[in-house]
Amino acid sequence: MATSQERMLRMTNEFQKMVDDFFSVQCQYQAAMKEVTTKLEILDDEFQTRHKRNPIHSMQSRIKSVQSMMDKLRHRHKALSISSAVENLNDIAGVRVICSYIEDIYTVANLLTSQDDVHVVYVHDYIQNPKPNGYRSLHIVLSVPVYLSDGRMEVPVEVQLRTIAMDFWASLEHNLRYKAREEVPSKISAELLQAANDIAALDERMQRIHDQLEEGALIRKKSDKRR
Ligand code: GTP
Ligand code: MG
Repeated sequence: MATSQERMLRMTNEFQKMVDDFFSVQCQYQAAMKEVTTKLEILDDEFQTRHKRNPIHSMQSRIKSVQSMMDKLRHRHKALSISSAVENLNDIAGVRVICSYIEDIYTVANLLTSQDDVHVVYVHDYIQNPKPNGYRSLHIVLSVPVYLSDGRMEVPVEVQLRTIAMDFWASLEHNLRYKAREEVPSKISAELLQAANDIAALDERMQRIHDQLEEGALIRKKSDKRR
């Protein structure tokens, strides 16, 4: 029979191990997130040099909080532990990329995923196939190698790419749903869906305006060269 002192020592050791595991996992995901944001910054800088504009309007990154990891694991009826989070969650590290135009999303996504050390785990294209509530974004779960003192490991990162307009809708919709706490009335859901569709039409319109201006600039450049 273990004495109460022995039990206390075992619990302290287990707790310490859990904390150590958490920090080591957090460090791996932070490194992967840095790798991905650096890759995206480099692509954006190079695009600026070549085309005199930035395809990336802004970027945000975050490591999922312990609370929201636990919520997601509980929701999926998975064990509540660090190893279960690593096994079951693909979005412990997340990078959100806000692009100017719809086309930029696919340009940035293709440039990123065609790099040798980037492995695509899966792609959910909610732009081609919007969610029933109207949500649009391109979700890519990819993995990148991280080199730590004990070797190389592949770490997954969820990259969400969307336009400024899609981000505007997603942020407000998230806040509204969060505030409502319970099920949003169907009349409001229908209005939110309509707003998402209006926004999508606006994105397409901005893309057309952009394309026309680019085309005009290209024609002028060609005729300037001929002169
Ligand atoms: P999983 O493999 O199940 O994780 O699929 P997924 O990553 O393609 O989509 P998931 O439904 O898990 O959504 C991941 C994240 O996308 C969420 O944490 C949100 O940031 C965002 N998201 C997804 N659906 C919605 C939505 O309907 N509204 C808003 N505002 N954000 C959403
Ligand atoms: Mg996800």
